[in-house]
Amino acid sequence: MLNADRLPPAAPECTDPEPLRERIAAELLAARARTAALTDCVDDRDLTAQHSPLMSPLVWDLAHIGNQEELWLLRNVGGRDPMHPEIDPLYDAFEHPRAARPTLPLLPPAEARAYAHEVRGRVLDLLTSSPLEGVPLLDRGFAFGMIAQHEQQHDETMLITHQLRPGPAALSAPPPPAADPGRRPAEVLVPGGPFTMGTDTEPWSLDNERPAHEVSLPAFRLDTTPVSNAAYQEFIADGGYDDPRWWTPEGWEHRWRAGLEAPLFWQREGGRWLRRRFGVTEPVPGDEPVLHVCWYEADAYARWAGRRLPTEAEWEKAARHDPATGRSRRYPWGDAEPTADRANLGQRHLQPAPVGSYPAGESPHGARQLIGDVWEWTASDFLPYPGFRAWPYKEYSDVFFGPEYKVLRGGSFAVAPVACRGTFRNWDYPIRRQIFSGFRTAVSVDET
Ligand SMILES: [Fe+2]
Repeated sequence: MLNADRLPPAAPECTDPEPLRERIAAELLAARARTAALTDCVDDRDLTAQHSPLMSPLVWDLAHIGNQEELWLLRNVGGRDPMHPEIDPLYDAFEHPRAARPTLPLLPPAEARAYAHEVRGRVLDLLTSSPLEGVPLLDRGFAFGMIAQHEQQHDETMLITHQLRPGPAALSAPPPPAADPGRRPAEVLVPGGPFTMGTDTEPWSLDNERPAHEVSLPAFRLDTTPVSNAAYQEFIADGGYDDPRWWTPEGWEHRWRAGLEAPLFWQREGGRWLRRRFGVTEPVPGDEPVLHVCWYEADAYARWAGRRLPTEAEWEKAARHDPATGRSRRYPWGDAEPTADRANLGQRHLQPAPVGSYPAGESPHGARQLIGDVWEWTASDFLPYPGFRAWPYKEYSDVFFGPEYKVLRGGSFAVAPVACRGTFRNWDYPIRRQIFSGFRTAVSVDET
């Protein structure tokens, strides 16, 4: 859906404001095209219904996208007065939990669309005159980039709502590329030593990705690809869900309380596993990365396999460190933007690609699909980097730091390129599995 291949040059290469304005406009338009595709394919009843208590009605996301854009770009950057101050509290994500949002007097679909459209028109006008420098919020177009990422993040959230929505399919997309028939080692070696984690230079990076800092790690081995459905089925068939040896005490308690027996959306029929994917029931494809597992399941699988989840630092070193230069790069393949042959991003497909796909996206160590396909659970809690500074608002990450959240890395097929890079950090509760989450495993070299 989002055609990253045809975007103008990446923001970091832009020094002249005109290409940067073009890039910003292209990102805003790409996000809006995706928002429209996700909301125009269902009727008003579907837009206002709450399909799961875990999610907002789609119409809430739609107006919230416009409201945040108005707040940050028209008011904070442009100095304009509020367009409809009375609706601000309705669309403040911290004021109303998702489960309560259907009871609010939300804008109906036609009005939500008109509001977001009106904001966008004024923002594009503002962009033509904005100096894109002079204050930190405007430096290299940061606030515009933040808003493009925000909309794409809500598009991912809306895609999750589509996955949870009952009824027939409303979305379609071509299948991902066929599996790469080449032979690959099961794991790659990442040698010990220091690397630079986080960034000071990525212009649209968010506060929790900063600052850059050196981290030294012992050598480890990492799965070449995410864990596949076929491998995960072996864990199930071996009684993995019924053996407390593989689970943390909290995970074991949760497994029983929540009745976990397989990834979310799976069901057994006869001797085989089926899954429901965006309104279609189909056999579980063995060669795809496993999807919709929680951290506890990922952690239990890793222990059953005699391994462990990688730490967040290990994941980032595998994805960014270039042993030839000692430098950390933007992506596993280098500094160039994601393209359709490097990573499965941007809802181009409605599922992950088979494990081992995207040879052009391989890291120097030989790992594949670190970017795109499935979010990868790591062993790590969501914590600030040394020297972290909350910016431009405390509620983006600062209020979430702590041991109750686990970090996920790498983005999924549902994540847009603008909201995905080697430094990007996602976080969620260890029980979450409606998200597009999978994992790969690691082992310390001295344990092999
Ligand atoms: Fe938001």
